[in-house]
Amino acid sequence: MNIESLSLKNFRNYREENISFFNGINVLAGANAQGKTNAAEAIFFLCTGYSPRANKDKLVILHGEESAVIEGVANSVYGKVSVKIEFFTNDKKNVYVNGIKVLRIGEIFGNIHSVFFNPQELKLVQESPEDRRRFMNVSLSQMSKAYFYALIKYNKILSQRNNLLKNPDLSLIKETLPIWDEQLCKEAGKIIAKRNEFLEKLSPVAESKQSGLTGGKETLKMKTESGYYGSEEDIAYALKEDLKTGLERDIRLGFTGIGPHRDDIKFILNGTDARVFGSQGQQRTVALSVKLAETEIFKEKFGEYPILILDDVLSELDKDRKKRLVSLTRSIQTVYTATDFSRTLFKGLDYRQISVESGKIKSVKDYLAK
Ligand SMILES: Nc1ncnc2c1ncn2[C@@H]1O[C@H](COP(=O)(O)OP(=O)(O)OP(=O)(O)O)[C@@H](O)[C@H]1O
Ligand SMILES: [Mg+2]
Repeated sequence: MNIESLSLKNFRNYREENISFFNGINVLAGANAQGKTNAAEAIFFLCTGYSPRANKDKLVILHGEESAVIEGVANSVYGKVSVKIEFFTNDKKNVYVNGIKVLRIGEIFGNIHSVFFNPQELKLVQESPEDRRRFMNVSLSQMSKAYFYALIKYNKILSQRNNLLKNPDLSLIKETLPIWDEQLCKEAGKIIAKRNEFLEKLSPVAESKQSGLTGGKETLKMKTESGYYGSEEDIAYALKEDLKTGLERDIRLGFTGIGPHRDDIKFILNGTDARVFGSQGQQRTVALSVKLAETEIFKEKFGEYPILILDDVLSELDKDRKKRLVSLTRSIQTVYTATDFSRTLFKGLDYRQISVESGKIKSVKDYLAK
């Protein structure tokens, strides 16, 4: 899959701009605060309907304007697809796929695929389990709308369940809960089964990417700790039983103590927990390996790579890791952003340098390896 063009109107610091991408390496180049990440963010928006920065949508509208529009045209094995998003100051947004307005935001998934990485993705390794669940949710939602809708339903029932748990009327809780738990566990079964399948595939690939990025110096293992395995139905059944057993605890806590909203992933680097013992560079490499592995899972599922967006990654890795990264991504359309980079990094490869200045594309230059 590759993005051909991106148009931006009143989006962040872009008044009106069109960017054409090369089906290979693209470098959005420029000084700080010129609009490189903004353009990269727009691509990810078109794939997921969300910002990788997890801000409020209305913040993307150029200061002082009423609305913003972004549109991208991409090529996939199924043909051309266009996705357009209109943003409004009341935080509402409209999504159009091939010119037709979609009724549910979830319909944006699966049209254009991308994997986004920037230095903040270190959160994936460093921070809370919520960041790791977010990673799985974003990736799996792009691969399966059913997953996205199961997640929405699950979260809705979960919050109702949690409200009920705080109710002082114990008999009401005991009467109502079994009906809700039935539905809750059905959705949980779908979510956990998909996550298990995803991580099972992802783990060995991430391991080999880590080895590829570090010249074989570091071994990576990924472990999940959900404790539920088997088919959707098996998982739903087991969780329902555990919810029954844990009811007193849940009432005492006032919230649901088990389920997919508590899942986590552990990254074991050279035998120890990367979150606790890894250096910054190692943690960054782990997060990058996981994202690179994600591109392979997309490839396996859809027969083509997603668009890989690597924001600010070149400034953060050492020379050898950078070189290995470029070589690992040579068959994927990649959008890098960089303040400065050495041309020799792309030696032997074709690439397009798109220079950005104050929300404008200043120049576009193709460097061909010949
Ligand atoms: N809604 C908005 N309206 C106007 N300007 C905005 C809006 N949102 C962000 N900006 C501005 O866009 C500018 C460029 O941001 P961006 O993050 O794309 O920079 P960058 O080129 O990636 O820089 P860096 O190299 O520092 O990462 C920033 O100065 C920011 O203040
Ligand atoms: Mg940036």
